[in-house]
Amino acid sequence: MQTRSDIDEAVAALRRGEAIGLPTETVYGLAADARNAAAVRRIFELKGRPADHPLIVHLAEADWLEEWARDVPAVALVLAREFWPGPLTLVLRRAAGVIDEVTGSQDTVGLRVPAHPLAHAVLARFGGALAAPSANRYGRVSPTTAQHVRDEFGDAVPIVLDGGECDVGIESTIVDLSGDAPRILRPGQIARAELEAAIGPVASGALATSPRAAGTHAAHYAPGTPIELVASEDFLPRLAAHRDAGRRVTALARTLHPEHVEGIAAGATPDDYAHSLYAALRALDALRAERIVIETPPATPEWAAVRDRLMRAAVGAPLDGPGT
Ligand code: TXA
Ligand code: MG
Repeated sequence: MQTRSDIDEAVAALRRGEAIGLPTETVYGLAADARNAAAVRRIFELKGRPADHPLIVHLAEADWLEEWARDVPAVALVLAREFWPGPLTLVLRRAAGVIDEVTGSQDTVGLRVPAHPLAHAVLARFGGALAAPSANRYGRVSPTTAQHVRDEFGDAVPIVLDGGECDVGIESTIVDLSGDAPRILRPGQIARAELEAAIGPVASGALATSPRAAGTHAAHYAPGTPIELVASEDFLPRLAAHRDAGRRVTALARTLHPEHVEGIAAGATPDDYAHSLYAALRALDALRAERIVIETPPATPEWAAVRDRLMRAAVGAPLDGPGT
């Protein structure tokens, strides 16, 4: 666990304009001072991410929102009160002074107050906002442990605070409140129904005119091993066909019988599955099989976020369409 001096050292590095590995309740972030253009450019350089992709700005307190956004609609305050600190990012019109490096030169900014105690401690001590994308190289699987971050960046990111395994395991729900009506740009643990209970109807899926969201590009969260995403009823027959053909495959499913295949049972509930998903993809990738065969979870709203990440990890494989 982290000591006070580890936090001091991390804050000192942030003040020098360096990027650090920071745990949040969703995934680990690669964090730097959101007011420092050179520090933010360093994040893009480390990730290998195109410079026009906006970053999420992390705040210690919901009250800081006014410094980062303008024309804040009432629904934003309702969502902030209801879900912050927590795995929800609000896209709002940006306040004057928010730098282009953070917003990808768009007129909007993504804001979130993370719930992880260590993220909160660092933000509070730092006293400013931290731009932090997931701490993975562009297009790769997001990290849910400190070791994953070290595996991604090695000596290039010397300070990685260790906050244990991320509780949620997949990235925050992103809601765009900068347009005519609230719209989910990226599904996450906070589901559409929960948002609607708080603010009424919420649309889903990015429009051509929606602010750009990198995690919403088709190919993302992808391990190196090809992935085959198959419908539940085809899962065991597909594994049998591979076995009969002498192919070495591994599997990922909600539940798994070891006699069927080498693989990982990710969990029977959406929360358990999300919690273990990225670590499972990394572990299966490391086995260097010919394929990773994944059973598609049900096309019901509660599985929407997990299905979204699986579809993106499996781009190129036959898909059966996104959930709602
Ligand atoms: O859970 C999370 O959100 C994690 C942790 C570290 O907080 N962060 C994360 O960051 O997933 P990243 O950069 O991997 O994904 C951020 C997403 C991207 O899809 C980005 O395009 C979108 O947020 N985003 C940020 N600002 C935006 C804006 N102004 N308009 C639209 N999308 C925005
Ligand atoms: Mg990411």
